[in-house]
Amino acid sequence: MAELRPHFAAAAAALLLLLAAVSGASHCSSSPQDLSLVKNISELPQDNYGRGGLSHITVAGSFMHGMKEVEVWLQTFSPGTRTPIHRHSCEEIFVVLKGSGTLYLASDTHGKYPGTPQEFSIFSNSTFHIPVNDVHQVWNTNKHEDLQVLVIISRPPVKVFIYEDWFMPHTAAKLKYPYYWDEECVQASRKDEL
Ligand SMILES: *[C@@H]1O[C@H](CO)[C@@H](O)[C@H](O)[C@H]1NC(C)=O
Ligand SMILES: *[C@@H]1O[C@H](CO)[C@@H](O)[C@H](O)[C@H]1NC(C)=O
Repeated sequence: MAELRPHFAAAAAALLLLLAAVSGASHCSSSPQDLSLVKNISELPQDNYGRGGLSHITVAGSFMHGMKEVEVWLQTFSPGTRTPIHRHSCEEIFVVLKGSGTLYLASDTHGKYPGTPQEFSIFSNSTFHIPVNDVHQVWNTNKHEDLQVLVIISRPPVKVFIYEDWFMPHTAAKLKYPYYWDEECVQASRKDEL
């Protein structure tokens, strides 16, 4: 009987590891869900990550797919939905696929706070980029239609500083890292390190 125990312990440990892999981290790069080169976007994980009115899909990501230089998101904002007022030290490019809305952008990075932003109308088949560290907000100001955008950022994973309003000092903006859709994978990779 005694010599069976080590085998039993090893089998139990293997089972626990397997269960941990299956239950957590299902779409993180440490245990990729879908290894195929060509992926069906309709079958990628889609969630609001705790933000009502948002649908976010990481099309190609740092944590999810091991991307090093760029990350791509597909996001849909229901009418009235907006991003936080925020900045990040990466380049960001938007392509508006559907709908319309408003970009708020404070380009004066020399002041102590962002100040009143400039407003830009964005529309279907428009594109714009956010200069590094400029404080901005994208808002679906169209009451009738969803706003869908493809977003490309450089140097992932994104490190976002969030402002409560346009007059909050830059130094008071709060770092949100990992960002909403990266949280699950960061927790999973921390678990893997234990
Ligand atoms: C992609 O996924 C959607 C939803 O599961 C499905 O309806 C569609 O047929 C898929 N496309 C292809 C080419 O497999
Ligand atoms: C966007 O503009 C390009 C270039 O004119 C055009 O080929 C494409 O069909 C447009 N797409 C939409 C969705 O309007």
